[in-house]
Amino acid sequence: MSIEQPSIRQFVRNGSVLELVGNTPTLPLRFEPEGVTIHAKCEFLNPSGSIKDRFAVAVVADALRRDALRHDSVILECTSGNTGIALAMVGAALGLRVSILMSHSASVERRQIMRHFGAEVILFEANAGYRTGIDLARDMAAKDSLYFLPSQFDNPLNAADHEHVTAQEMVRQIQKPIDCFVAGYGTGATLAGVGRGLKQHHPQTLILAMEPTEAAMLSGECPCCHAIEGVAGGFLPPLLDSAPLDGTVKISSEEALDMTRRLSREFGLLVGTSAGANVAAALKQAQALPPDATVVTILCDRAERYFSTKLFADEPMSRSEC
Ligand SMILES: Cc1ncc(COP(=O)(O)O)c(C=O)c1O
Repeated sequence: MSIEQPSIRQFVRNGSVLELVGNTPTLPLRFEPEGVTIHAKCEFLNPSGSIKDRFAVAVVADALRRDALRHDSVILECTSGNTGIALAMVGAALGLRVSILMSHSASVERRQIMRHFGAEVILFEANAGYRTGIDLARDMAAKDSLYFLPSQFDNPLNAADHEHVTAQEMVRQIQKPIDCFVAGYGTGATLAGVGRGLKQHHPQTLILAMEPTEAAMLSGECPCCHAIEGVAGGFLPPLLDSAPLDGTVKISSEEALDMTRRLSREFGLLVGTSAGANVAAALKQAQALPPDATVVTILCDRAERYFSTKLFADEPMSRSEC
C-alpha cells in the first residue's frame, strides 16, 4: 500500500507527550508449566494507555498536513473507548476540540478519562453494536462541516500505520523470523497492518485472528455478548478484508479473564481483557507449534480502565450472564 506515513513532528513543540507514542518494547513472557515463550508487544505503555495512540497521532498528523483540520474543527469519532481516549489526548496536546460517540455499555472509566482530557462524550444506545454510533457520526458530519471524522473503521491509515511502523518495530525487536502473530479485531487494523508488514519480511508467518467464542463471526457464528471489551463489536469490519489471515483461534470470555488475571499475578502486567485474550490465544497456538516457534501478540491497553467490569469482579462469570 502506498500511503505516505504522516509524521506529527512538524506540528508539535519539543517536549510534547505525542513524541512518546510508539516504539513500545516487546517482552518475552515465559509460561510455566506450559514451557512456552510468548513475545508480547507492550502497547499499554503508549502515553494514553493503548495501541490506539498510534492511529490518533497518524490520522491527526495526516489531516494537519492536508489542511483538513482547522483551528475550530471538532474531531468526531465513534469508539468503544481507547480511540476516544487517544484522540482526546491528541486534542489536548494540540489544542483541538474532540467529541466522542460512545455506547452506554462501554466502561465508565473510559468516559471519565476522555472528559478529564477535556473531550465531550456523547452516549448512545448500541442497538446494532458499533454500527449505530458510526451512522450517527456520519449524520452529524453531513449536517455540520466543522466535524472532522477520523473514521477508524474504514480509514486505510489505521492499518497502514501498523504495517509501516508497528510491524517494523516487532521485526527489529525480535530479530528472528516470526512464526505466528495472533491478535483480536475491533477495527481490524492491527491484524491487517501488522499482518501485511510481517508477511513482507517472512511470508510464512501465520497470521491468526483471536475471536471471542461467544462472537466468532469469522468462523461463521452469530455474535453474542462477551466480556472482551474492544474486540468483536458485532460486525466484520471492512479493514479486516485486507488482513492476510491464515486462521482463527477462539477464546471464551472466561479464558480471557483468567489469563488477564494470570498476567497481573504471575508477570506483574496490569493489562486489559483483550490483552489477556490475545495471550491466551497465543499460548494455545504456541502449544500446537514446535517448541522453539516464535509467537507474537499484543498487550493492547491497561487494566485501570476496567475497574467497573467483570475483570475486577470476584466471582467467575456464570453461563446465564449473557
Ligand atoms: C482494548 C482493545 N483491544 C483490541 C482492539 C482491536 O484493535 P483493532 O481496532 O486494531 O482491530 C481494540 C480496538 O479498539 C481495543 O480497544
